[in-house]
Amino acid sequence: MEALIKALPKAELHVHLEGTLEPEHILALAERNHISLPYASAEEVLAAYDFTDLPSFLKLYYAGMAVLQTEQDFYDLAFAYFEKAAAENIVYVEPFFDPQAHTSRGISFDTVINGIYRAQLDAAAMLGLKCNLIMCFLRDMSAESAMQHLELSLPYRQWIIGVGLDSDEKGNPPSKFAAVFAKARKAGYKLTMHCDVNQDNSLQHIHECLHKIDVDRIDHGINSLESDELCELIAERGIGLTVCPVSNRFCVNDLTGNEIRKMLAKGMFATVNSDDPAYFRAYLSDNLQALADDAAFTAEEIVTLVRNSFLACWLPDFLKRPYLLRIDHIANKFIQTSGVAA
Ligand code: ADE
Ligand code: ZN
Repeated sequence: MEALIKALPKAELHVHLEGTLEPEHILALAERNHISLPYASAEEVLAAYDFTDLPSFLKLYYAGMAVLQTEQDFYDLAFAYFEKAAAENIVYVEPFFDPQAHTSRGISFDTVINGIYRAQLDAAAMLGLKCNLIMCFLRDMSAESAMQHLELSLPYRQWIIGVGLDSDEKGNPPSKFAAVFAKARKAGYKLTMHCDVNQDNSLQHIHECLHKIDVDRIDHGINSLESDELCELIAERGIGLTVCPVSNRFCVNDLTGNEIRKMLAKGMFATVNSDDPAYFRAYLSDNLQALADDAAFTAEEIVTLVRNSFLACWLPDFLKRPYLLRIDHIANKFIQTSGVAA
């Protein structure tokens, strides 16, 4: 299984760049930017990661990213993730970034996007990794702030493929951002929104995503399984669901393997992703391996999930096809070989 997961070309559709900031990197950036932290070692940083739900995680996530100050810091953050991704044979990424988490600390939008975009160009050239950025709005900030950041992004429209919605979901439904997302759609952006697992009004939020916002994808979306109507709509529209098993194990104490299986059985495009790998201590391959080890996912199921990420990504069909052909070629070889050995 480990060899199969490594050999398959993979796409990641739900990873927050700020959530890839490793403890060692937090310490190095703090030193470079003369910021004093209450930690003397990476072990001490890790020991402070005692989150048990979304709000307790977000507190540490925002505290960690305060060390990001300059364009070079954003370049280094993104390039370090791209190197890790390429090493595990991820060939395509649609990563999130959270500009409001930086502009609210006095860092300009241009500083953030220029650093990330430069890393993206270098990753394509040096690592053969393709990437399209998704700009997320923080849903616990105002709709006015989201609209201002949408305006700020427009000069960079060609660098950003879509917009998303993340941060604390409690009391912050999709409909709060209906006008922002309508304007983003007009500007040509693809649309996605987090519907984190077991939030207050999760089902209502998914309903709004589908009926009021008309999203192209849903991030997490596990609670859609509580409604046959919503499941049918998601399957019918071919909407991808970016599930994050190890993140779910931290935030709701469950790898959600059964839920992923149910989605696949209903013809929904479930995909597997890492969310905030430096915090949840698991990158994409670790998430796939966890499903195999702890939820008995078969090689066929893993291949289906890896294929789904390319089907649900926002590349044009002619660019998806070569990846799908390669997956099928590798999967056939592996599954036949293991069949013979058995
Ligand atoms: N920001 C970073 N990770 C997040 C998650 N899993 N849910 C909501 N906001 C986030
Ligand atoms: Zn997320």
